[in-house]
Amino acid sequence: MKRNIDPLAYSAQIAQALKQGAFLTTKSGDKVNSMVIGWGHVGIVWGRPVFIAYVRTSRYTRELLDENPAFTVNVPTQGFSKEAFAICGSQSGRDLNKIQAAGLHLEPPEVINVPGIREYPLTLECQVIYRQEQDPALIPENIRQQYYVRETADHVCYYGEIKAAYIIDRE
Ligand SMILES: Cc1cc2nc3c(=O)[nH]c(=O)nc-3n(C[C@H](O)[C@H](O)[C@H](O)COP(=O)(O)O)c2cc1C
Repeated sequence: MKRNIDPLAYSAQIAQALKQGAFLTTKSGDKVNSMVIGWGHVGIVWGRPVFIAYVRTSRYTRELLDENPAFTVNVPTQGFSKEAFAICGSQSGRDLNKIQAAGLHLEPPEVINVPGIREYPLTLECQVIYRQEQDPALIPENIRQQYYVRETADHVCYYGEIKAAYIIDRE
């Protein structure tokens, strides 16, 4: 069962959860892949509820997003498995099926064509309506040194219009 929610009413909870990490899932063809995200926010753009995610150009997730511009965000509400977190936050979906390796289960979506993750019940289904690659020249030097020297790939901001938001009830 799924209980619909107003994503804006949950923005503080989502922001708090992102301090540890949430899961962003993408799908292209029969490939489904999840990565851990720490950056992102819920808000309103062009009069629509959106989740904006920041994905480095080097991620497999970025390739899948370009092939199918939709994603789900799953927010752990009652903790998360350290193993799932380690796998989805450091391994690439290019090399393995992370969902399987992490022992996670997919939840069929309501509106978009990308599933969510049953174990992390607060779900946002997002359709990308805009994307923008950050311009390194506009990033303050100290931040650029901190984030784009060791790992050089820039971030792309994906604006996902929230098409459905709910909490999965596993009972
Ligand atoms: C706590 C945490 C937060 C992260 N946040 C982001 C993020 O916001 N954007 C990003 O591009 N990568 C982020 N990462 C790194 C990706 O999760 C990691 O590189 C992942 O292996 C990419 O998977 P993929 O190649 O299958 O897309 C984060 C990792 C951790 C552990």
